[in-house]
Amino acid sequence: MFVLAAAGSAVGLGNVWKFPYMAGDSGGGAFVLLYFVCIALLGLPVMISEVLLGRRGRSSPANTMRTLAREEGQSPLWGMLGVMGMLTGLLILSYYSVIAGWTLAYVLEAAEGSFSGISAQGVGEIFNRLVADPWRLMFWHTLFMVLTMFVILRGVRRGLEAAVRFLMPGLFLLILVMVVYAVIAGDFLGGLRFLFTPDFSKITPDVVLKAMGQAFFTLSLGMGAIMMYGAYLPEDASIASTSVQVALTDTLIAILAGLAIFPIVFANGLEAGQGPGLIFTTLPLAFGHMPGGTLFGLLFFILLVFAAWTSAISMIEPAVAWMVEKFSFTRFRSSLVCGLIVWAIGAGTVLSFNLWTRVRLLDGTAFEGKSFFDLLDYLTSNIMLPLGGILICLFAAWVMSEPSRRDELRIGHPAGYVLWRFLARYIAPLGVVLIFLHVLGIV
Ligand code: PFF
Repeated sequence: MFVLAAAGSAVGLGNVWKFPYMAGDSGGGAFVLLYFVCIALLGLPVMISEVLLGRRGRSSPANTMRTLAREEGQSPLWGMLGVMGMLTGLLILSYYSVIAGWTLAYVLEAAEGSFSGISAQGVGEIFNRLVADPWRLMFWHTLFMVLTMFVILRGVRRGLEAAVRFLMPGLFLLILVMVVYAVIAGDFLGGLRFLFTPDFSKITPDVVLKAMGQAFFTLSLGMGAIMMYGAYLPEDASIASTSVQVALTDTLIAILAGLAIFPIVFANGLEAGQGPGLIFTTLPLAFGHMPGGTLFGLLFFILLVFAAWTSAISMIEPAVAWMVEKFSFTRFRSSLVCGLIVWAIGAGTVLSFNLWTRVRLLDGTAFEGKSFFDLLDYLTSNIMLPLGGILICLFAAWVMSEPSRRDELRIGHPAGYVLWRFLARYIAPLGVVLIFLHVLGIV
């Protein structure tokens, strides 16, 4: 159950939508290389720490942190870490749901056969027409939130398991087919070169920050989602090897998505750095020209909605569970409150693609030219998640007593334990802090 739930949370729009567009925006290979390094040196130790705390605390992240802090004789203020995580989750979901709404809209486009025989220009028009219409975006965002809250209301366990067990392998298979199509019909070598030949001149402090943010985002780390699911992990399961399994699967899916998309981008002379619309303006081109493409496109977007759904659930569940524990709300009331808050904030993202293309209030600051969506994404993925991640590592690797963590982790190999502890104690926190300082121009 843990592997399914964690994989369901990790694999989502972050892999198929965000990874390709971030890589495209940030110049390709150099970003990808940094992203791998961040997954291995920062993401993995944080993930292991997060699961470790979750299994020991067995409650919502905010309460888990309080209980564990008490157990170790530390300040209950550690509970704030859980509260910050909840907030981060709600903020992420507010824009994630809008993008998941685009995916829902594309299910309909695919079903109507809009992609068949389409040109690059036609695909661009479909996308631009969608994002220019705030009412349409709001409709799909609302529908996605209703779907998410429906599962949350019924309790997470049911449904999630089936969705992940059957639909994720389906998505994986379809992405593989898209890669094969990209080999046959796209500029595959161009795509490979773009993703795997690092051009070090493209590495700026901001690219490093984004690669780190993407590593946290794609693995759902730093906000308690994985901590919640850690509670499902049986006592005898190995935290380290299941974490490695989840991280590898997640990274593989992101890379395959990149390999499916960039060859099409280059073969059709599209812009790799066009931003969040990238997959929506490239994949339909492939669906429009491959045999059986209409059915394929339909299936693909449906499965992507499911992947987004299982991730969305994990973003809001910590807040819902916390409200139930803290204010003795019924699950219904707590879901309604959280769902409405997220839905309302989502309206800002909806507008940022049409009426509010940039937040003018920030002119003259480092955030000049950013939209509400860009800002939320930047703040949550690049700052709040890594910050949460450092605190999680610090708690697990410094604050917790040596016997507690050793007992909980039970990494078979003594060297494995020492390696995790070294990464979680020094490399991950220092890495994140150094990257922050680098962006601020201090180091
Ligand atoms: N990891 C998810 C994805 O790649 O789509 C996004 C996500 C889920 C981020 C849960 C953060 C989170 F807590």
